[in-house]
Amino acid sequence: MSTDICSDNYRKCSSNSDNCKMENPDTGSSEGEFEMDIESTDVDCGNKECLEKGRCITNDIRVPVTLADLVDGLHKFFSHEKINIDNVKEYMSMYKSKNKEWRKFAKFDQHRYTRNLVDVGNGKFNLMILCWNENQGSSIHSHANSHCFMKVVDGSVNEEMFDWPNESESEHEMSAKGMSTYNRNEVAYICDAMGLHRVSNPSHTDKAVSLHLYSPPFDECKVFDQRTGHESSAKVTFWSKVGKWTLLMRLQKTTKDLKSYCPLLLSCHCEDA
Ligand SMILES: [Fe+2]
Repeated sequence: MSTDICSDNYRKCSSNSDNCKMENPDTGSSEGEFEMDIESTDVDCGNKECLEKGRCITNDIRVPVTLADLVDGLHKFFSHEKINIDNVKEYMSMYKSKNKEWRKFAKFDQHRYTRNLVDVGNGKFNLMILCWNENQGSSIHSHANSHCFMKVVDGSVNEEMFDWPNESESEHEMSAKGMSTYNRNEVAYICDAMGLHRVSNPSHTDKAVSLHLYSPPFDECKVFDQRTGHESSAKVTFWSKVGKWTLLMRLQKTTKDLKSYCPLLLSCHCEDA
């Protein structure tokens, strides 16, 4: 086996070691030791590329300097059957947001927050940019048995946590059991076993942008009425895909644009889904 399995500038690995030190590219220090998940360093993990190389390809993952690095590394993480949640969180937090790298995906809407697809993760995950105008927020929602990682790349977002409604009660107001604020570059994680959440941009003056990874991808989740606890299903739609407006959103934008010019269209019912 090679004695230097990591050849980039920011990572030093010892021969035959699963433990890798990440060096801070700014300071050169090795703060923030990053130990790869034991499960995912095993070439018997079944991942085809690991078997071919005789070592785990997660050893090739660089500190994500760019968004492209981050996407590439996430592909490697999620090529394995077993994923260590803390490792993914730590890996995502290593990427230091640069607006110019995600700006092309960040398409805002004045009426609601938007989801903008960045990468389909070889079918293992969806990576998307969510754009939050001032004071915009989501409904209280679940995550369809998926894992959700959320990294703030601009501004700050609040995350309110809720318990699942008690099914024995027909109607019950939902109260937040906690709230956290995540600032630029911080990463949060949630799954259905942890409860439900609502994400919002609390700022009256600043927009917020967050990068979300959902694994496995899903196209429908449950949303909840806070006053009653009643649930309903909601389709997960994209405002744009890989930097381009989706057809549905182009139609909606066109309708809105036309409405602003033609009063006769004010009675049109083509509103947002
Ligand atoms: Fe969520």
